[in-house]
Amino acid sequence: MGEMRVVELSASTIVAVNALSLRPGQEQFVAPVSYSVAAAVTNPATTWQRVVLDGDDVVGFVQGNFDHEGMDEYFQSVLWRINVDADAQRQGVGKFAVDALAAEARERGFKHINVMYEPGEGGPEQFFLAVGFSPVDETEYGEVVGQLNM
Ligand SMILES: CC(C)(COP(=O)(O)OP(=O)(O)OC[C@H]1O[C@@H](n2cnc3c(N)ncnc32)[C@H](O)[C@@H]1OP(=O)(O)O)[C@@H](O)C(=O)NCCC(=O)NCCS
Repeated sequence: MGEMRVVELSASTIVAVNALSLRPGQEQFVAPVSYSVAAAVTNPATTWQRVVLDGDDVVGFVQGNFDHEGMDEYFQSVLWRINVDADAQRQGVGKFAVDALAAEARERGFKHINVMYEPGEGGPEQFFLAVGFSPVDETEYGEVVGQLNM
């Protein structure tokens, strides 16, 4: 991995972001149910999205939601989506993206970010634990709620 940076989603990167690939077995972990439920009440104005570039190459995407007034506490400061291209995984891109999200959360006055994930083989659990999230709760859909304190 060369010099990484995060940039806003734009017309020139959106196609590459939509084309980010997954490793076999990862599909089932990408969209936990809680996010689909929350999407119905989430205001697009509270969304924060960034593309991770390695040089000029799109290697990842991260989306958060920040809303001090949000009805669901876990969604007030939350990692909504993270995806690193299959060929770029295990090279620090995911951690770089989480660090960028954490910096944004701090800037907005939050003390932690949350994430909801489905535990299981092939899923993102080991990644979230490795970058500093700790399990704090479980959702009604059996997902783990992880929290990263800053
Ligand atoms: C989860 C994901 C974002 C991780 O991105 P990544 O760029 O591969 O992660 P990093 O290289 O920054 O990994 C940081 C550390 O996390 C841990 N880690 C990451 N992936 C892991 C895995 N599959 N198994 C075990 N540990 C893992 C390691 O400790 C790693 O450090 P190391 O490479 O020095 O061992 C990526 O695998 C992905 O896009 N998955 C598919 C989408 C998804 O499931 N998103 C989450 C939905 S809630």
